[in-house]
Amino acid sequence: MTSVAVPADSVFVRACRGETVEHTPVWFMRQAGRSLPEYRELRAQAGLSMLEACRTPELVREITLQPVRRHNVDAAILYSDIVVPVAAAGVDLDIVPGTGPVVAQPIQAMADLARVGELEPAQVSFVDDAIRLLLTELGDTPLIGFAGAPFTLASYLIEGGPSKSHARTKALMHGDPQLWHALAARLAEITLTFLRVQVEAGVSAVQLFDSWAGALSEADYRTFVLPHSAHVLQGLAGTGVPRIHFGVGTGHLLPAMAEAGADVVGVDWRTPLDEASRLIGVRPDLVLPRAATGEPLPEPRSRAVQGNLDPALLLAPWDVIEHEVRRVLAEGEAAPGHVFNLGHGVPPETDPAVLTRIVELVHKVSMR
Ligand code: CP3
Repeated sequence: MTSVAVPADSVFVRACRGETVEHTPVWFMRQAGRSLPEYRELRAQAGLSMLEACRTPELVREITLQPVRRHNVDAAILYSDIVVPVAAAGVDLDIVPGTGPVVAQPIQAMADLARVGELEPAQVSFVDDAIRLLLTELGDTPLIGFAGAPFTLASYLIEGGPSKSHARTKALMHGDPQLWHALAARLAEITLTFLRVQVEAGVSAVQLFDSWAGALSEADYRTFVLPHSAHVLQGLAGTGVPRIHFGVGTGHLLPAMAEAGADVVGVDWRTPLDEASRLIGVRPDLVLPRAATGEPLPEPRSRAVQGNLDPALLLAPWDVIEHEVRRVLAEGEAAPGHVFNLGHGVPPETDPAVLTRIVELVHKVSMR
């Protein structure tokens, strides 16, 4: 009998499903990018903007593989950006180095919605091409696809760029709920199409980034955001591909985010994983909301967690990092599955050798 190693049987995918694994899998949000000298070199050599780089499959393949070769992480994440599908759907935007996404004409009124088109899969065929190139090289290493969640995308479109307070976004959602829901529903469709393209091309898991959702109260999250994120996650339910749902500063939102229907909930460094696991675990006392479309949501059940080493500590002495890695691993034991990660992305000033050492430590300490 021969057995062929495939990504669907990988330690990472099985941990996402809450199955027993030989060791805790580890990857890092933003593992591809400016912390790697080989990334900076390749980008400089190519002379392309970030968005152009994301649309060049050979470059995407190479950048996605760089951290896999260097760190021996348990998963690759597609090199792209959350605004790529929005740009492909016709929104005039750019990714400004050192700033982030900047939108030429922010959304303020119902008439502006016409600028946010529908996404046709053919408009992101470069992603399909890049994934197919990657799959032949990755072998049994799983590839994670991703997209931005409706709230985080809407914030960029309404604010016109990065915002700390998300004040215009909150003012619009309360002041013109009809426009808010129309915009969020349109972004949910774009996100769902973008993720379906990635799943059909062969990614082994997807992550929905709602990076800025933590800025909302639980009540606002439930009213204005949860139905739209749930629509995206439910839309992928039949694919069998694990869905990870992540946000920053979301300790107070974890039960609500878990209800949106992901298989794995990403947790930042503020909430210990054992506490997070309790918050997102089986909650039969919760009354399930219904998605905006009226589709029923599944019963809540126990879910895996992902996280949550504080990225700031990557700059600390090694003995501090080792102590924190061991703590995160011990707290992760409380969940039915644990994928080791940072609590947010790798800061550009990180020494990549530290990340390689963390991968070795996670594998060694968690070996069963
Ligand atoms: O390795 C990976 O994780 C995959 C690559 C990835 C990028 N963006 C590449 C990128 C992923 C997963 C993202 C998602 C993303 N983009 C999010 C959600 C994740 C998070 O950090 O919360 C958000 C909010 C964005 C929007 C965005 N794009 C920001 C805030 C920035 C940083 C701006 C800056 O220059 O500091 C970007 C640009 C960006 N996306 C870079 C990279 C590697 C840096 C710019 C560059 O390399 O030219």
